[in-house]
Amino acid sequence: MKAIVYTSKTGSTERYAQMLSKATGVPAYPAKEASKRLPRGSEVFYMGWLRAGSVSGLAGAMERYTIRGAAIVGISPAGNGDLWTEAKINGGFSDSGARLFYLRGGYAPDKLGRVDRLLMRFMANAVIKKIQAKGDAATEEERDMMGVFQNGGDLVQEEALADIVEWFRSGPHDGVLKATPTLDI
Ligand SMILES: Cc1cc2nc3c(=O)[nH]c(=O)nc-3n(C[C@H](O)[C@H](O)[C@H](O)COP(=O)(O)O)c2cc1C
Repeated sequence: MKAIVYTSKTGSTERYAQMLSKATGVPAYPAKEASKRLPRGSEVFYMGWLRAGSVSGLAGAMERYTIRGAAIVGISPAGNGDLWTEAKINGGFSDSGARLFYLRGGYAPDKLGRVDRLLMRFMANAVIKKIQAKGDAATEEERDMMGVFQNGGDLVQEEALADIVEWFRSGPHDGVLKATPTLDI
């Protein structure tokens, strides 16, 4: 693997990328810097944060690099979005065979721009309402989630990288993450 390429808005994906770089010896670059340093087609591991179900920066990265694996960083406990749905169906792989992982980042409203902050607050309020409506039936995980949405929170854990570090060491690294073709009718 030539490099780890990442996007990060509030720093959690960046921290994961730096920890992964340290653990594997593979350099990590933010997407902008990577485009200057890495030749097109380079084999990379991509790490991007989830924004309304899409992995930020992934479409551009898929065009530019050979993505052997990717980590999706979001706040939901179990992961979400189209790519993670593919992974769940294919036992941890994209339809095209690239290895996929999900990591939990955090919620830091102070570090968001106005539009993202509003969007996120809207989503957070919806989740809070849903959990509150469950009353005593809400699970501990749901209560924790509500706390994160109410007060912000950091869910980054170095241990969560263990499977990714293992995959870097043992491979195989032969799948490629490709754009899913859309049907224009
Ligand atoms: C506008 C917006 C939309 C988001 N949408 C999702 C989402 O669909 N699913 C999810 O799990 N997390 C979502 N998040 C949470 C981020 O993915 C999470 O805060 C992540 O840790 C951000 O990574 P970063 O710290 O590297 O920027 C969203 C955050 C924002 C600001």
